[in-house]
Amino acid sequence: MSNISLQLDKVYDFVSIEEIQSYKKSAELQNITLRNKTGKGNDFLGWVDLPSSISESVLEEIEKVTLKLKSKHLEVFVVIGIGGSYLGSKAVIDALSDSFAQIKGSFEAPLVVFAGQNISEDYLFELRDLLDTKEWACAIISKSGTTTEPALAFRLLKQDLEDKYGVDEARKRIIAITDGERGALRTLAVEEGYKTFVIPDDVGGRYSVLTPVGLIAISIAGFDVRELVRGAQSMEVACGADVPFEKNIAAQYAAVRNALYAKGKKVEIMVNYNPKLHFFAEWWKQLYGESEGKEFKGIFPASVDFSSDLHSMGQYIQEGERMLFETVLSVGQVNNEVLVPSDKDDLDKLNFLAGKRVDYINKMAELGTMIAHVDGGVPNIKINIPQLNEFYLGQLIYFFEIACGISGYLLDVNPFDQPGVEAYKKNMFALLEKPGFEKETAELKARLG
Ligand code: PA5
Repeated sequence: MSNISLQLDKVYDFVSIEEIQSYKKSAELQNITLRNKTGKGNDFLGWVDLPSSISESVLEEIEKVTLKLKSKHLEVFVVIGIGGSYLGSKAVIDALSDSFAQIKGSFEAPLVVFAGQNISEDYLFELRDLLDTKEWACAIISKSGTTTEPALAFRLLKQDLEDKYGVDEARKRIIAITDGERGALRTLAVEEGYKTFVIPDDVGGRYSVLTPVGLIAISIAGFDVRELVRGAQSMEVACGADVPFEKNIAAQYAAVRNALYAKGKKVEIMVNYNPKLHFFAEWWKQLYGESEGKEFKGIFPASVDFSSDLHSMGQYIQEGERMLFETVLSVGQVNNEVLVPSDKDDLDKLNFLAGKRVDYINKMAELGTMIAHVDGGVPNIKINIPQLNEFYLGQLIYFFEIACGISGYLLDVNPFDQPGVEAYKKNMFALLEKPGFEKETAELKARLG
């Protein structure tokens, strides 16, 4: 099988090959630093060799749990988690699923839905309303076990499961994915006797999709997690520290985005031409935003779904402030064929396309847009994905992860912490008058008047 590939010819008008090459030595060095685990945040580098070190017993356990739940004829499987605890599985499941799976439904693979990724009362009400009439089970995913959003959703859904199936059967329908030893969820899981999976200590949320955090839901949704891991393994080799810059697409991507950033291109827009990739971009935004946006530095990661958003964001990208560059996820081969029919009246003047595939039109939109945006002053990086399947998604995940580590080190930040995420929590707890936050509550109340 071929690999995903990186195409940089549409950035050379903005940063020269020499400017990109000037990052060669440091990009290679940072890749070595990552592999040797000697750089900033080195206690969170378990994901670097995760594809090659994932144990057969974990994969077998995941398959066993999938079969067990399948035997219950589940219609819905709820994944409760936020941030890194949900975006990876959501990205992969959406990329591989029928766009209308939600409506079509099937007992072969339950519909995977998410909870605990927001605090919307309407969302929770409507979800519980749906679950009331369905056969369902859930996974609660939280390393700390105390993150407010998933803890709140789990409190409600656990109660619902127990009311519906009784305490004993409810226990059999809950999987807890959490820290190996510590934390509130570990304690609860041990007390209740839930089936548990471990989030390794040295893997942070946004780098955890290739652990049970992502793999359980992907497997339950009916997809081949071994193939996903195999794709990631192949990228671990292809982007290895021993692979020279000229052949190492992760090092090149890290270098080119830093070169563009140095030239004032402060916003990177992840572009797709297939709505199945919408959540892949959401996963990527968390990965890069949380890894690089610190110390008042970092490219702002944004995303668009084309051609839909050409009719909303296209104007700005073409003619707005020139601080943007785009990274296009370009899928080579689609999985289905639809031909344009001929029409006897041809009122819409589309007969010139009769007999052509819809994907051909999409590809011409992609090429035409790329040329227009480059002409308008927006550098374009292109990532070629031969096909949307488990193998190439595994490649893409590992490619972006390792490139993110290298890129963060080039920027001289710690790409593996997220100190800024705490600020909103502190205010929220103060406003909710959580015990222990009395001082902050008084300060905020005084500020708000
Ligand atoms: O990337 C991260 O570390 C975060 O997005 C976490 O995954 C998220 O905050 C959830 O944390 P926890 O797993 O402790 O509930």
